[in-house]
Amino acid sequence: MTGSGTIEVHTVNGDIETVLLTEEEILRGTDRVAEEVTRVYTGTQFTVVSVLKGSCIFASDLIRRIPIPLELAFVGASSYGEGTEAGKLVVNFIPSEKEIEGRRLLLVDDILDTGQTLYRLKAELLKRGAVDVKTCVFLDKPSRRAVEFEADFTAFEIDDTFVVGYGLDFDGHYRNLPYVGALRREIYEQARPGV
Ligand code: IMP
Ligand code: MG
Repeated sequence: MTGSGTIEVHTVNGDIETVLLTEEEILRGTDRVAEEVTRVYTGTQFTVVSVLKGSCIFASDLIRRIPIPLELAFVGASSYGEGTEAGKLVVNFIPSEKEIEGRRLLLVDDILDTGQTLYRLKAELLKRGAVDVKTCVFLDKPSRRAVEFEADFTAFEIDDTFVVGYGLDFDGHYRNLPYVGALRREIYEQARPGV
């Protein structure tokens, strides 16, 4: 490192209580899901639709492990305000008509929690003319489900713990952690007293 200024290093890792999934475990899970996806889509044309922002890391690792032709599109949805409880789902943007109509889509999200996001996005894409919509999630919290919904592909099931890292955020932070960890309680209590 060059330069003479004093750099104050704030390490986000100190905010993490426990690591739930290491980088190695994540990549093993991603490899397994990529093989399942490859088996299902071999011989068909399909588009991976990454749900922003949370799934960008998982989707980019996943598609690089799928050795068959695919296209990539993005959909913007946010179901969280500033805290750890689910809020109203807002669809910020949707792929263009020609990216949806008559296409087989694989919706990829970071986590299946209450199920609202993928339930609504899948219905919306089918309504707009997709011929088939399957879903693939990095994490699944089955105990939190509010609507009847299961993903077609799941890398890991976890308990009802709020987690961050590998794309998942708390108030917009921690997406860049290469592992998945549980936040220290005082971090979210500080940000939102009473949550
Ligand atoms: P659902 O609509 O309740 O299934 O929520 C899905 C979205 O909620 C995800 O795409 C995440 O953005 C967010 N979410 C749910 N659980 C967590 C968590 O433990 N950490 C970070 N984000 C979460
Ligand atoms: Mg999200």
